[in-house]
Amino acid sequence: MTVVALCPGSFDPPTNGHVDIVVRAARLFERVVVAVVGNPDKRPLLPAAERVALLEGALGGVRGVEVCSFEGLLVDLARQLGAGVIVKGLRSTSDMGFELQMAHINAALAPGTDTVFIAASPAWSFVSSSMVRQVASFGGDVGPFVPTGVGEALDRAFHEWRR
Ligand code: PNS
Repeated sequence: MTVVALCPGSFDPPTNGHVDIVVRAARLFERVVVAVVGNPDKRPLLPAAERVALLEGALGGVRGVEVCSFEGLLVDLARQLGAGVIVKGLRSTSDMGFELQMAHINAALAPGTDTVFIAASPAWSFVSSSMVRQVASFGGDVGPFVPTGVGEALDRAFHEWRR
């Protein structure tokens, strides 16, 4: 039976760290669904459709990977997709507390759903979407940290935001 893994996040914006986690998840699972999911604690800078397009651009060549967007409870999407595994990247011990809490809540809401953590590659462990946004907001070069097209998307978004 095909194991479907769900790789959720805000991806605002997608970073090379996200891409690395998805590529490695695709080596472990036959089908990986990357989902741009609404986080009620965050107001996104980039529209969901743009985040989906950027992820599709970055992951287009990776076998077994697809990208979608979703509003609602993650476990409801997992149920819709028949995904028994949720994949999250861990950059540091400070990520751990919150991610474990989410894993336990999701398992309580949907028994049988397991969260699998993949340790971020050291090369990307310092990269976060919020830092990338901050660098871009001051006109810094985010090129080394993000997939093609993301820097331009952020420039456009901040340009709009300042008008
Ligand atoms: O990249 P992020 O912001 O850390 O991703 C968090 C995300 C979007 C995966 C999380 O906020 C989420 O699952 N949102 C959907 C609502 C939900 O199911 N929350 C968990 C139970 S409280």
